[in-house]
Amino acid sequence: MKVSKICCIGAGYVGGPTMAVIAQKCPEIKVTVVDINQARIDAWNGEDLDKLPVYEPGLDKVVAEARGRNLFFSTDVNKAIKEAEMIFISVNTPTKTYGEGKGMAADLKWVELCARQIAAASEKDKIVVEKSTLPVRTAQAVKDILDNTGNGLRFQILSNPEFLAEGTAVEDLLDPDRVLIGGDTTPEGKEAIDALVEIYATWVPKERILTTNVWSSELSKLTANAFLAQRVSSINAISELCEVTEADVSEVARAIGADSRIGSKFLKASVGFGGSCFQKDILNMVYISRSYGLHEVADYWEQVIKMNDHQKARFAKNIIKSLYNTVNGKKITFLGWAFKKDTNDTRESAAIYVADHLLNEQAQICVYDPKVSAEKIYADLDYLNTRSPEENRKYVKVVNDPYEACMDSHAVAILTEWDEFVSYDWEKIYNAMLQPAQLFDGRNILPHQELKKLGFRVSAIGK
Ligand code: UDX
Ligand code: UDX
Repeated sequence: MKVSKICCIGAGYVGGPTMAVIAQKCPEIKVTVVDINQARIDAWNGEDLDKLPVYEPGLDKVVAEARGRNLFFSTDVNKAIKEAEMIFISVNTPTKTYGEGKGMAADLKWVELCARQIAAASEKDKIVVEKSTLPVRTAQAVKDILDNTGNGLRFQILSNPEFLAEGTAVEDLLDPDRVLIGGDTTPEGKEAIDALVEIYATWVPKERILTTNVWSSELSKLTANAFLAQRVSSINAISELCEVTEADVSEVARAIGADSRIGSKFLKASVGFGGSCFQKDILNMVYISRSYGLHEVADYWEQVIKMNDHQKARFAKNIIKSLYNTVNGKKITFLGWAFKKDTNDTRESAAIYVADHLLNEQAQICVYDPKVSAEKIYADLDYLNTRSPEENRKYVKVVNDPYEACMDSHAVAILTEWDEFVSYDWEKIYNAMLQPAQLFDGRNILPHQELKKLGFRVSAIGK
C-alpha cells in the first residue's frame, strides 16, 4: 500500500518538526498538520519564519521548502482525517493533575478524543500511528475505540515513537540512530508497518528502521527515556559526592565515559534534567509497574526522579547558603529559563523549581533567556500555584538584555547552557554587580578559573 496523504493531529514540538521533515523528504505525499489551537496554526502559516511556534535550528529552512507545496497547517481536523490514509496522533499526554494516578499516570484524554474524532470522521480504512509517548498498551484502547465507534471500517494501529531531542530535532529527524515501528503481527498489521517503513526509507537506511510488536515499541520509548534520565541522575548523584571529596565531576565523567561499555554521552552533571518527556515517562513507568504490583521495579525507577528533585533543591539551597543564609529582597539573576539550549521549550525546566524555591525565600529574580518569552515564564510560575500571579509578576522581572539582567544583582545563576553566555563580557558584568559577586554555574559551561581571577566567587556543579 502506498500512502499519498498523511494527517497529523497536534502541531506541537513533535508533530510540527516531524511532519515538516517527512514533507520535505517525500514531496509526493501531501502532509496536513492539524491542531485545535488556531493561534498555533496561524503561527505555522505565518510569513515570518523566525516566529514559528517551535524554535529548532534549521526548521525554518525545511518549512520554507515544503510549506504550500505538500505541507499544510490547518484547523480543519475532520477534513484532514477524511482525506488521509495515514493519521499520526501527536497530541500532548501530560501527567494527570487530578483523580486516580494524579501526578503519576499520563492523561490520555486528548488521545482518546483524537481516536473518537478519527472514528467519526473516517469514510475509509486508515492506518493510525501513535507518535505521542504513551503508556504501554495504549494502542489497545485506541483500537477498541476505533473499532467500536467507527462505521465498520478497519483500522490498523502502529506505534512509532519519537526519539528526537529538542534543540537538535531537525538533525535527529534527518539522521536518526534508528526509527522504531511497532505493529500487529497479522498480515494486515505487517502491511501497515511496510507502508510506514516505505515512507522513512526515502531517507533513512533500511537497517536503521526497526520493526517490533506494538507493546515492545511503546515500552521501548519509555525505557529509552528512563535510561537517559537515569544517566543524568547518576552523574548528578556523583556530583554531590565530588563536592565533598574534592573530586571533579567533569574529570570523573571523562574517565568513565572513555569506557566504551559506558560511553561518553549524557554524563553532564547539571542543575537537573527537565523537558516534557523524562519525568513524565518515568512516572508513567513507575505507575504501570505499581499497578502490576511490581513495587521493587517502581521504587528503582522512582529514585531517578527523587535524585533529580534533590539536585534542583540543592542548587537553590546552595545559593541561599552562599548569600549568608538569606536572599530576602536580594536581586538574583537567572541566565536561561529553557530546559536546555537551542529550544524555547520550558516544560519541567529546572529553572522553574529553582525560582520557586528562591521566591519562597522572598528573593527578587531577574530572568534573561534568548528564546523564552516573559509570558511563558510567568505562565510556568503561575502553573505551580505556589503564589498569586500578581506576586509572581512583582517578584520576577524578565528582561531582554543580559547585562541589564545582571546589573546590581547579588548573584548570577546559569540555568541553561546557551552558547552565548560563554562569550559575554564577564568583566563588565562583574563590575556592575553588588560585591561580593557570586556566580552559580548550574551547567558548568563558564571558564571558572578566569572568572575567579576577575573576582567572582564561583560555585559549580560537582567541583
Ligand atoms: C509530544 C508528544 O506528543 C508527547 O507525548 C511527548 O511526551 C512530548 O512531545 P509535544 O508535541 O511536545 O508532545 O506537545 P505540544 O507541543 O503540547 O503539542 C501538542 C499539540 O496538540 C498542541 O498544539 C495542542 O493544541 C494539540 N492538540 C491537543 C490538538 O490538536 N487536539 C487535541 O485534542 C489536543
Ligand atoms: C529526550 C530524549 O533525548 C529524546 O530521545 C526523546 O524523544 C524526548 O526526550 P529532550 O527532552 O528533548 O529529549 O532533550 P535531552 O537532550 O534528552 O535533555 C533532557 C534534559 O536532560 C535536559 O534538561 C538536559 O539539559 C538534561 N541533560 C542532558 C543533562 O542534564 N545532562 C546531560 O548529560 C544530558
